[in-house]
Amino acid sequence: MENRPQWGTRAGFILAACGSAIGLGNIWRFPAVAYENGGGAFFLPYLFALLTAGIPLLILEFTLGHKYRGSAPLTYARLSKKYEWLGWWQVGIAFIISTYYSVIIAWAMSYSVFSFNLSWGEDTVGFLVTDYLQLAAPGEFGSLVPSVLIPLVLVWVITLGVLFKGIKKGIEVANKIFIPALVIIFLIIVVRALTLDGAVDGLNAFFKPDWSAISSGKVWVAAYGQIFFSLSIAFAIMVTYSSYLPKKSDITNNAFITGFSNSGFELLAGIGVFSILGFMAAQQGVGVDEVVKGGVALAFMVFPQIINEFPAFNQLFGFLFFGSLVLAGLSSLISIVETYVAGIQDKFNVSRTKAVALGGGLSALLSLVFATQGGLNLLDVADYFINHFGIALAGLVQIVVVVWLTKNLKTLQDHTNAVSDIKLTGILGAWWKVSLAFITPLVLGYMMFDLIRLNILEVYGAGDGYSRLFTIQYGVIVAVLALVFGIVFSLIKWKKDVLEIPSSSAKEVNK
Ligand code: ALA
Repeated sequence: MENRPQWGTRAGFILAACGSAIGLGNIWRFPAVAYENGGGAFFLPYLFALLTAGIPLLILEFTLGHKYRGSAPLTYARLSKKYEWLGWWQVGIAFIISTYYSVIIAWAMSYSVFSFNLSWGEDTVGFLVTDYLQLAAPGEFGSLVPSVLIPLVLVWVITLGVLFKGIKKGIEVANKIFIPALVIIFLIIVVRALTLDGAVDGLNAFFKPDWSAISSGKVWVAAYGQIFFSLSIAFAIMVTYSSYLPKKSDITNNAFITGFSNSGFELLAGIGVFSILGFMAAQQGVGVDEVVKGGVALAFMVFPQIINEFPAFNQLFGFLFFGSLVLAGLSSLISIVETYVAGIQDKFNVSRTKAVALGGGLSALLSLVFATQGGLNLLDVADYFINHFGIALAGLVQIVVVVWLTKNLKTLQDHTNAVSDIKLTGILGAWWKVSLAFITPLVLGYMMFDLIRLNILEVYGAGDGYSRLFTIQYGVIVAVLALVFGIVFSLIKWKKDVLEIPSSSAKEVNK
């Protein structure tokens, strides 16, 4: 008898999957990535990546989790014992991401509080770098920064508190509160943004296509990278979440809803952010291109400046913006941590409480590294390398293993079709198979090759003062560690009978 926990309702699962997908990647990463990579023209590679990699992989991961009913390591071990390391590798990637993702949420928490009296003042760059983060030179750790440490503790208390409560009472309930709240807050922000002076100029800059950009490989890398990170695929999350689905669950429908909701939110974020940037450019009498920034700079330098210039309710607007980052971030962090909680539980047969305390506790402890004075630089390098040589590479390997090495695509397709309303047959079946078997591995394979070549030629972040040694120590080695961790953990023996696929879900015997 299988006693794996299950989601209480279908809506509960969809909200949790959307909660995982919609995160910091949508609000602070997407608008700038799109802008820097061709503006309106970026939608072409973005849609291509969504339709040939994002949604097909989401269906694949939902199917794997639903059929094999395990955390990523258990799922891959049940698929074929030879590839358990792939599951642990993806869990390792999720573990590393959680150590710094939590810190960005902590910054957003601080900034929600700073909004009450606009504590960042006029010099928002100086405030972030010197007063708040007390930033040290690249490679230096310095001491722990108390103003980051305090919200970071809170982030972990909330995240682990939710995870202790389990799937239905913890993750499902949290997402039922966080996601509707996030959507309402974000709609308020976007409506307000669209009615600001200069919003149209911002939107023009955002949507104006620069067709010459899409001939560059870099733009396609950016589109695939964005889709993988944003949809939470290839780092063990969606496999884990779908392992808690009841036997009767519509896989393809759930995947389409999750994929399109995530991209819809991303588009909404782009519209909101660029309307606001248009407003700022109009206030300063400059072009939108002069005010646009990405990532940390956009959220924590440019936005506070805009909030200062807001016509009314500055504090409230600031609180809503940073509050939305906190909500989006927390619902994603919960899913990231759940990957290793589930992995530890499955492999070592320990209680959920112990797995949360052990896995979450270790990640919380390691996250302190990013709460030091050197945190921002370390985070930037770790994020770049784990995204490109972690997530994207693991996605490529995942496809090669499932499609080409274990030759399981047909079995998985049959499984999906047996439970889904929208069936992968005819043209849809061909789209799914051709995307996974040919288009995505070819594009991703070329991308990886080009990326490695570029990284050998140029030092990442050289303009920010990063040395080759620094990027190797905290970028390359960190990414490689996830793989080493994967291999080592897969060598540990399973308890007897665990690798048998529960009869309630599938009849096939693992190889
Ligand atoms: N999918 C999550 C995000 O976009 C990790 O931030």
